Amino acid sequence: MKALILSGGKGTRLRPITHTSAKQLVPVANKPILFFAIEAIREAGITDIGIIVGDTAREIEAAVGDGADLGVNATYIHQAAPLGLAHAVKIAQDFIGADSFVMFLGDNFIKDGISPLVREFEEERPNSQILLARVPNPSDFGVAEIKGGKVIGLEEKPKRPKSDYALVGVYMFDSTIFEAVHAIQPSSRGELEITDAIQWLIRNGKEVTSHIIKGWWKDTGKLEDLLEANRVALSGVERDVRGSTLGGTRVIGDVVVAEGAVIENSELRGPLVIGEGTVVRDSYIGPFTSISSGCEILGAEIEFSIILENSRIESIGGRMEGSLVGKNVRITRSPAKPRAFRFMVGDSSEIQVPE
Ligand code: DAU
Repeated sequence: MKALILSGGKGTRLRPITHTSAKQLVPVANKPILFFAIEAIREAGITDIGIIVGDTAREIEAAVGDGADLGVNATYIHQAAPLGLAHAVKIAQDFIGADSFVMFLGDNFIKDGISPLVREFEEERPNSQILLARVPNPSDFGVAEIKGGKVIGLEEKPKRPKSDYALVGVYMFDSTIFEAVHAIQPSSRGELEITDAIQWLIRNGKEVTSHIIKGWWKDTGKLEDLLEANRVALSGVERDVRGSTLGGTRVIGDVVVAEGAVIENSELRGPLVIGEGTVVRDSYIGPFTSISSGCEILGAEIEFSIILENSRIESIGGRMEGSLVGKNVRITRSPAKPRAFRFMVGDSSEIQVPE
């Protein structure tokens, strides 16, 4: 079997972070989401991976390279525009050839991996196996209509969903999917929808099985879901303090401090991770926080947040929580008069100040 990871697209719901970075490379527990997908695929015994890339191709290629560091062979497939998940399948036909494959959306995070699911597909050999999960907001997803335990229809982000079973972003196909993606037409939003392609398989008497996943899964396209994925990923970390912990520092619980980080006169209450070369001084870092490398956290309190590389947060005079801070950001205190909030924020940023 082969695998196809979709890492093109626009990432509009994570702006402004995605103005400058690929959403699939936003880290949870200081590791890009995309790497979790690659590892899940490799653990399922698949090493030939095609990666669909779009505008952010350079960044994704720089992060994954030829895949050797992650134990896989990566082949890049360029998609000129995000014309839909089924369009991505279409352009991957030469790479996939006659093999069966797993398609994995590069922004999906599945805590327990996909190994048993791939095994089930290989044993049962349906034309397609889809994964479903019950969600409170089915209108935000592809939704399956189920009758007598069988999927009888699929709709993409329906206004009036016929069930609360959402399509999870991992699909398994044999090569009949190529007939389907060539047969369907773009939807009203102009995309070739994978839901329509699977619907085509059902309508044409092909075997589509479904598997309801019980483990934890998230589409990380939105901030709250990304923070949740970070929380779940951090729940699995084990204490590993390599950096220096100096005068007055208390380290409680599962805390990872990478090489070269310096923690001084601070309290770290895990689970949390702190990246290489980051300095934390006179601060409190609370549970479910990931701080990337090269940051400076000085006189600050941070909890349940993700801070990306080389950012500086200094004496902000309150607790920061539920936040995603991009790269090279500075959040500091100003002695200048008048006492006022001063911002220089990018397009589509979101800032909330306390009452
Ligand atoms: O997360 C599960 C959901 O993923 C499913 O329930 C939906 O049926 C499915 O359409 C998809 O919905 P999203 O709105 O989340 O799709 P998104 O546009 O975020 O794209 C998913 C991934 O695929 C993302 O990593 C970007 C990539 N992509 C997307 C498109 C449209 C591509 O590489 N090329 C594309 O043309």
